Amino acid sequence: MKIHHIGYLVKKIDKAKEEFKNMGYTVLQEDVYDDDRQINICFMEKDGYVIELVSPTSKESTVAGLMKKLGNTPYHICYETEDMDKDIQILLARKYVMWEEKKPAIAIDGKKVCFLIHPYAGMIELVER
Ligand code: NI
Repeated sequence: MKIHHIGYLVKKIDKAKEEFKNMGYTVLQEDVYDDDRQINICFMEKDGYVIELVSPTSKESTVAGLMKKLGNTPYHICYETEDMDKDIQILLARKYVMWEEKKPAIAIDGKKVCFLIHPYAGMIELVER
């Protein structure tokens, strides 16, 4: 599976964006508000690497707990999948646990995404191609 982006949890998306710009990143997609997940999302790129800044906007955000626990940090790698259901089955057999079931992501053109966690490899996201 090809890597689509690396998800980066940030407390203040504007301030984070400024610093990533200082580091040479350019904005691929300006902030999109995902009401379903209660997050702001911005995609940036440097040297072919794409990062997704994810910032919780409320205590009900899907990542509010992670932010409290982890702070500003990279926290998932997103992979493109040709057949999400098939890949989910393969990953579940390899001890991944579903963290967020498959549903559309407004910030990625409404494509379906899901999140899984492995006990030793941490969190990944799948996005349909
Ligand atoms: Ni992501």
